[in-house]
Amino acid sequence: SDKGAIVPTLFQYQGFWYPPISVFKGVLLMQDHFKAQPTDIFLTSSLKSGTTWLKAIMFSTMNRSKFEFATHPLLTAGPHDCIPYLDAYIIDHDVEALHSPRLFASHSAYSLLPKSVRDSPDCKIVYICRNPKDVFVSHYLFAMKLRPPMLPPLSLEEAFDLFCRGVCEYGPYFEHVLGYWNASLEFPGKILFLKYEEMRKEPVKHVKHLAEFLGKPFSAEEEKEGVIEEIVKLCSFEKLTSLEVNKTGKVAFVPEMQIGNENFFRKGQVGDSTNHLTPEMIERLDKIAEEKLKGTGFKFGESK
Ligand code: A3P
Repeated sequence: SDKGAIVPTLFQYQGFWYPPISVFKGVLLMQDHFKAQPTDIFLTSSLKSGTTWLKAIMFSTMNRSKFEFATHPLLTAGPHDCIPYLDAYIIDHDVEALHSPRLFASHSAYSLLPKSVRDSPDCKIVYICRNPKDVFVSHYLFAMKLRPPMLPPLSLEEAFDLFCRGVCEYGPYFEHVLGYWNASLEFPGKILFLKYEEMRKEPVKHVKHLAEFLGKPFSAEEEKEGVIEEIVKLCSFEKLTSLEVNKTGKVAFVPEMQIGNENFFRKGQVGDSTNHLTPEMIERLDKIAEEKLKGTGFKFGESK
């Protein structure tokens, strides 16, 4: 399909839609050659679910003893430069040479992660999801900003219809979320399932829990010193968007495609999709969600 993508072509592979050939090559390499280490940590997500934010949080939580807040690497490097996107990184980097614990990000569906990652009883996976309406709007606006001019225009309505039918990078979205949801129920000590909306509401609580899950709980002293609050502040939308690196810096997941860091920050709000979708669109997506999630025990948004 050449629709729904910021790049001309999407490939369907083992039930999921993939972006251009070089990243797809990385996915195959990852599946065939990546060897999980017990200390590996994976940040997984579909697109526009809060990956950039969670990268900043996980990087600063895991490395908090190494850096002072006043000279923190996140002040001068974009979150995407702090945790590599394995699906592309593996193409031209020696991942064996990285120090442990290795932190990787991946947009791959759970079923497409390397077998050694899924089978390892020790390496950990943190998945972040977001309600599909906000994901769609965030993705559409992101994709349109970056869409090469030679591609035909893609209206919001057309992209929405494709999204509803599962056609978007790393989609179908519901299957992506449910793959990780089901796995998190089966392996609760290995997979932490986070929701963007809940993190937005109570970031301190979730960062604390995340650190415990990653085997790096905050000490009583750190809590007293306000280290969790410092991390939340450093990684906040307001702080990250105020930094020069996130205004003018760029990230190249694959050598042929550079993306300005500013594209990963738009509004950072919950529910902005209502400003872009018609009531009919909202009803359609809500209905699909209801059908897809029936019997799974999972709901988008904040748990009541
Ligand atoms: P919006 O387009 O709704 O604003 P991803 O990082 O997975 O690509 O997701 C991007 C979305 O996360 C964008 O959503 C972006 O604004 C939001 N985001 C980026 N950094 C954030 C932060 N520090 N806190 C909260 N949301 C953030």
